[in-house]
Amino acid sequence: MKRLSTILDHLQPQAGDSKEIRSLKKRMELQSLRSTCILSDERLKQMAYFMIHEMHAGLSDESKSTLRMLPSFVYRRDPSRASGEYYALDLGGTNFRVLQLQIQEGKLLKHRASKFRIPDWAMTGTSDELFGFIADSIRKFEQDKKIERSSRAPLGFTFSFPTQQTDINAGSLIAWTKGFTTSGVQGKNLVKLLQDAIDQRGIKLEVVALCNDTVGTLIARLFSDPQTELGVILGTGSNACYWEKAKNVTKNGKVSGKGDEEICINMEFGNFDSKHMYVLPELPFDAEIDKHSPNPGFQRFEKMISGFYKGEIVRLIFVQLSKNGVLPAVIASTLTKRNGFDSAHVSDILGDRLPGRHLTERILKDIYNVHIPDEADRHLIQEVCLMVVHRSAQLSGMAIGATLLKAGKQSCATVAIDGAVYQYTPNFRFIMEKAIKSVVGDHCDVRCVLQKDGSGFGAGFIAALSQLK
Ligand code: BGC
Repeated sequence: MKRLSTILDHLQPQAGDSKEIRSLKKRMELQSLRSTCILSDERLKQMAYFMIHEMHAGLSDESKSTLRMLPSFVYRRDPSRASGEYYALDLGGTNFRVLQLQIQEGKLLKHRASKFRIPDWAMTGTSDELFGFIADSIRKFEQDKKIERSSRAPLGFTFSFPTQQTDINAGSLIAWTKGFTTSGVQGKNLVKLLQDAIDQRGIKLEVVALCNDTVGTLIARLFSDPQTELGVILGTGSNACYWEKAKNVTKNGKVSGKGDEEICINMEFGNFDSKHMYVLPELPFDAEIDKHSPNPGFQRFEKMISGFYKGEIVRLIFVQLSKNGVLPAVIASTLTKRNGFDSAHVSDILGDRLPGRHLTERILKDIYNVHIPDEADRHLIQEVCLMVVHRSAQLSGMAIGATLLKAGKQSCATVAIDGAVYQYTPNFRFIMEKAIKSVVGDHCDVRCVLQKDGSGFGAGFIAALSQLK
């Protein structure tokens, strides 16, 4: 990757450049970007094999792998035995949700839910502020829905950050991701922090299960589709979980002692290859984003594919191309604010099918005050968005393919996926599914399905499974 930055430095326009050299430099610069963002089948396979290697390593010793491979303590059970009233909380991205579920013999009869935007002070303040906000939101939910209970009801808590669990209802945060920096949470028992905040407010709920959003998504689908093998999130952050034989989790005797039972493993694939960047297709802009993030050196894979970073990658490329005279100079002088380009606009620009790309023109003018009068420049802007999305979709497909290979599931399997990147980015699914086939082979006939709000529902279902004897 050093080579790419060297080329880009070398391509800086010089005062004495002829017209021909300028045009050549422009083309070379774009080609450099394309060759990093459009990955060959061979490259995808190489990355997938390294990912499988890291999965094996992480199952035996976390310190020897960039994949943590965290046991969720959710074992494969027959969902049709689950019945009752359960509550669920979903914390992990921009929003926080509270849900109430009625389950009868494995079927969701009805549910009620409310969504709350997580204020900045809760994401970056203290533990008391964050858990206070969560418990206050539950109280508001109960007041709004006029819910009254005489005894404590079971609650499942989806907490979508790397968490070291020691049981289904015990675990501590390893490290924050996705821009959260709340103090006093890392290393603490999350179930206790939540239960204390709930009890202080006199709310009658008992936290019986803690889970990652990928696990919630897998379990939510499993209730209607017993062939569900993977749970994947492609949104603000990215990650996957899958069923693994308990005996293969050799780093944990409590788990491996369960032998042939299947346990759901939270891979935390966002950290893949972060240590040495052996195989990841890094652009100079990725290093820049990493350097300015709250967790430099970690989650490097996630930073290439997720919604939280997509807008910033695109902005940095726009600025670079503008400085080098490939795009109009006004871009470099206007799009100066770090994280100042919304990931959602990358999708909007990509979806612009208007002749002349006038939607792109309007977005840039109305929202960012950047006037791009030339249609050819607007096409180029759209192409940059496509390249960034292309890399994200191929890498996501590679990771899913690698996990399917490790799990030995190449047919008759469902991959349950949630997250805005997967749901709303034009072209994403098509490119991702092609990359899965590149890795697994053309015979691969797994189904990728959208499991909307799986992480929230899943926490309720997992709470229900945890109560089965
Ligand atoms: C977290 C994962 C989570 C993923 C998707 C990542 O930043 O580390 O635990 O599953 O985001 O929300």
